[in-house]
Amino acid sequence: MKEDLKDILFSEEVIRERIAQLGVELTEEYSGKPLLIIGVLKGCFMFLADLSRHIDLDCDIRFLTASSYGFSTVSSGKVAFDKEIDWDVEGRDVIIVEDILDSGGTLTALNAFISRHSPASLKTCTLLDKPECRSVPITADYVGFECPNEFVVGYGLDYGEKYRNLPYVAVLKPEIYA
Ligand code: IMP
Ligand code: MG
Repeated sequence: MKEDLKDILFSEEVIRERIAQLGVELTEEYSGKPLLIIGVLKGCFMFLADLSRHIDLDCDIRFLTASSYGFSTVSSGKVAFDKEIDWDVEGRDVIIVEDILDSGGTLTALNAFISRHSPASLKTCTLLDKPECRSVPITADYVGFECPNEFVVGYGLDYGEKYRNLPYVAVLKPEIYA
């Protein structure tokens, strides 16, 4: 697995420190209010597991599953996610937690979907942001790290369902997907 990686972009330690800061920011932002956190699976699983441990608020943590990539490193533009949710959003403070903001398609679609359920507020938090790759104009409210325009894996992010278990974020060697 490690021989497929070009270099480590964000180490375990750097990620750990940044996530602790994000947790403090969120705790202050929502000070004392209960928070509905919606994690976007599968990429968010490690990030949200760590982030949530730094959020000192009453949290309701739910998940939606989104997919657009499959065996590709370029977004298909079509975003599929479960359109059925069996929990209340109306009147609640909601934050969507994503692994990476790339073309912007996934987060735009999810924002529109959750907005239709009338939350009191809706914000977004992404571990990684690739601002150069945007095809839809969207920014996240909270960003862990800005990421160069390269295909990255690890810390929840996959290529063809592999590499999610790496404890850091690394650039995948282009010959792996070429
Ligand atoms: P978007 O809809 O193009 O913004 O893409 C968002 C989704 O694409 C993320 O939730 C990831 O699952 C996936 N993705 C985008 N860039 C990368 C990457 O560099 N590595 C792994 N997955 C990525
Ligand atoms: Mg993915």
